[in-house]
Amino acid sequence: MALYSEKVMDHFRNPRNVGIIEDADGIGEVGNAKCGDIMKIYLKIENEIIVDAKFETFGCASAIASSSMATELIKGKPVSEALALTNQAVVWALDGLPAPKIHCSVLAEEAIKKALQDYCEKNGVEYSHNSYEGQPS
Ligand code: FES
Repeated sequence: MALYSEKVMDHFRNPRNVGIIEDADGIGEVGNAKCGDIMKIYLKIENEIIVDAKFETFGCASAIASSSMATELIKGKPVSEALALTNQAVVWALDGLPAPKIHCSVLAEEAIKKALQDYCEKNGVEYSHNSYEGQPS
């Protein structure tokens, strides 16, 4: 059995949404101390909708595939849905990851949450890891 699914290989070889957003509304950077991988997510948000998402990932194939898939999953979605994105959803969308690589998908979830937290803080919205209530002031 192949170690990586075709979807993982596709998103690793042809990652979607690589890059930065200069005037991002939210930026989230996370790292994993054990493997040393770093992921940075940029979000452009208009009227509570994520109109663009980009990433820079310095890491393994699974981290790059997870960033690529995660940004695809949240683009065009409301902030509340993006906040509800779990690493498990990223793993499913990639048709699975090997067990030792699950933490790479966790990095994607954390980076998105951090970017959303940044957006909330900049816009005076109360942030909770699990829910999103209220409009920016
Ligand atoms: Fe750590 Fe992939 S090995 S993010």
